[in-house]
Amino acid sequence: GSGLNRLAQAAGKKYFGTATDNSELTDTVYTAILDNKVEFGQITPANSMKWDATEPTRGTFTFSGGDQIANLAKTNGQLLRGHNCVWYNQLPSWVSSGQFTAADLTTVIQNHCGTLVGHYKGQVYSWDVVNEPFNDDGTWRTDVFYNTLGTSYVSIALQAARAADPNAKLYINDYNIEQTGAKATAMLNLVKQLLAAGVPLDGVGFQCHFIVGEVPTSFQSVLQQFTALGLEVAITELDIRMPTPASQANLAQQQKDYQSVVQACMNVEGCAGITVWDFTDKYSWVPSTFSGQGAACPWDQNLVKKPAYNGIVAAL
Ligand code: XIL
Repeated sequence: GSGLNRLAQAAGKKYFGTATDNSELTDTVYTAILDNKVEFGQITPANSMKWDATEPTRGTFTFSGGDQIANLAKTNGQLLRGHNCVWYNQLPSWVSSGQFTAADLTTVIQNHCGTLVGHYKGQVYSWDVVNEPFNDDGTWRTDVFYNTLGTSYVSIALQAARAADPNAKLYINDYNIEQTGAKATAMLNLVKQLLAAGVPLDGVGFQCHFIVGEVPTSFQSVLQQFTALGLEVAITELDIRMPTPASQANLAQQQKDYQSVVQACMNVEGCAGITVWDFTDKYSWVPSTFSGQGAACPWDQNLVKKPAYNGIVAAL
């Protein structure tokens, strides 16, 4: 039948999914769509599994928000993507300014990733273990992890995650790696090194926070460069923003853009699935992050499907 997840699965994908957030779950018009496995076979917590939410002070873990999303996935029969273990952003100051030695920060990462991933053992299809390690020019982001441990923080986190849940697929996730260029090359080189060294890594996530009319034409070939290494790939945070208020012309272009992005995943066998970074403009992160931009999701502010929805359907 119709519906994004049903169509994606019928075409051989594992899921079509969406991000969601705890504060949205009291909106019954919203949850009627979110909970419908015909549309969404996978969910990602937009915030509640991040470091600031799960270990706000050292050694004190709070899983209430993450558990609510994990339980919802279980109730709905949806796959769950864990997001995330190690990221420079939404990182509590006890980590970012912790003045840790390399040995101490290693322990901190091992304890955080091990406890977080272990808490959700058996419930998570895939984890964004490392999020956004690179700058746009392909150099390493000089966050506390890199500054203290160099590139080794990546394997420290991946190994801790594997030990905590051997069945979860472990990903590195980033944006602006969807087109050929320095950043995609940096990611490709990193994953080659990790695989050669036997570090546990199963996939690379392509966030796909795009601008209307600017979907990279090389996206499918980039996906194939990664699957050629034996890795899974996924579209993990898709949205396509435009200046607001949205024009009819941009909404029509957005339909084409959604279709071409989803088509790239459909054309690549190792592309597991597609996740939109929430499905409605009502709860999109875009307007509060990109001034004057919005209308990035396939459902509008009123939970009504936009032309973008039909673009996705056309690709599935
Ligand atoms: C965003 C959330 O959607 C917002 O609610 C929050 O204020 C900031 O983070 N890349 C990521 C996501 O990996 O975690 C980000 O999520 C969006 C960009």
